[in-house]
Amino acid sequence: MSSEFTVISHPLIQHKLTYMRSKETTTDNFRRLLREISQMLAYEVTRDLPTETIQIETPLAAIDSPVISGKKLCLVSILRAGNGMLDGMLDVVPAARIGHIGLYRDPETLEPVEYYFKMPDDIGSRLVIVVDPMLATGNSAIAALSRLKESGASSIKYVCLLASPEGLAALQRAHPDVPVMSAALDERLNEHGYIVPGLGDAGDRMFGTR
Ligand code: URA
Repeated sequence: MSSEFTVISHPLIQHKLTYMRSKETTTDNFRRLLREISQMLAYEVTRDLPTETIQIETPLAAIDSPVISGKKLCLVSILRAGNGMLDGMLDVVPAARIGHIGLYRDPETLEPVEYYFKMPDDIGSRLVIVVDPMLATGNSAIAALSRLKESGASSIKYVCLLASPEGLAALQRAHPDVPVMSAALDERLNEHGYIVPGLGDAGDRMFGTR
């Protein structure tokens, strides 16, 4: 069994993604576009949140009207590029809690090693939305999801901007219970672990580093 995978092929997302991919795009525009796409991804990933009705009075009448119910949200950023998706998501779900996971790749074993992990105490009772723009090899995503499950998270979704077929398959194998949502599914990974055609190094492009 593999997890549910959805590409959000809305024309606005595809349009903005094209400009994010372009090497001519400046750091400030890259950040703005990522924020705008993240708003739309937040809208899509929360589409199935349950609602309940409450009684309110409009200036004209009393009505039963829907509000979000059920689990509260926690956005989890995989450092450092995941941080670039937080502002846009928080525009849409401003009350969400935020967790951070830092992982680096051990140069000898090539396995991800955790250097930072900070979550809200009640992570087990929240819907957790893990964000990282680039699902490349899938190794960090797999390790992050395993660690979150160890810490008690039981309801998790994964949202990225670009996925490689290789990373997606690995993630789906390792965590078949976690739905994955992306703005695009690219062609392949290259020999350096970059997504092709991709957009380059997402962290460097959003933070203006190299
Ligand atoms: N991380 C990036 O930022 N870009 C890629 O293409 C792959 C991993």
